[in-house]
Amino acid sequence: MEKHETIVALDVPSAREAAAAVARIGDAVSFYKVGLELFLADGPETLRALRGEGKRVFLDLKLHDIPRTVERAVGSCLRYAPDLLTIHAQGSTAMVEAAARAVREAGSDAKILAVTLLTSLDGSDLEKLGVSRTVEEEVLALGRLAAAAGAHGLVCSPREAAALRAALGPDAILVTPGVRPAGGERGDQKRVATPADAIRAGATHVVVGRPVLGAPDPRAAALAIRDEIRAAAGA
Ligand code: C5P
Repeated sequence: MEKHETIVALDVPSAREAAAAVARIGDAVSFYKVGLELFLADGPETLRALRGEGKRVFLDLKLHDIPRTVERAVGSCLRYAPDLLTIHAQGSTAMVEAAARAVREAGSDAKILAVTLLTSLDGSDLEKLGVSRTVEEEVLALGRLAAAAGAHGLVCSPREAAALRAALGPDAILVTPGVRPAGGERGDQKRVATPADAIRAGATHVVVGRPVLGAPDPRAAALAIRDEIRAAAGA
């Protein structure tokens, strides 16, 4: 896996629209994220098409269930040969261990990423949930739990990346959404960072959706982000 990369979120409703977006972006991007919307609509078709074009796949289904169910669901995900797949750290140690075991026992190279706290949650949500830690403390605690249980990395906000990198060491994969090129539209992302900020804070991959898919020239938008990442990584 290249050390620093852009992953484009295919947040579109059908395999047809996904294929059109991938064609427009061309060789500027080789890594795509497929989330619940597209997976539930046209998952198998989309994933086969991406693999057929030699693209890498981040399957972002954020699995969260009892350990046995997650272990078997990860096994089903592996049919699509994803490079990255997500689970919720809130499923706790046994669930994360079960996901890691499924990958190991299948002899797969897929990497398990844990989601700590959804960035849509804030301190008042934690209070309602009976969590007394701050958002930052909770993210760090869940990140450590997931890594100790065998997750290969985390999905995190660019603002959390530096603390998580320090806590988890150099090998952890840190994938950061919530990224906007300088001067770009924010959409509904409230807490954004530039791709360069994210990489400098310790991210290995940045996820971008609308800044690429919604650009007049998606290929040029993706190339600009790639250049920004390479410059920030000192590549
Ligand atoms: O269009 P945009 O760049 O905001 O898309 C970001 C992608 O990353 C979306 O697929 C979104 O669901 C995902 N994501 C996020 N923030 C998180 C976790 C995932 O924006 N905390």
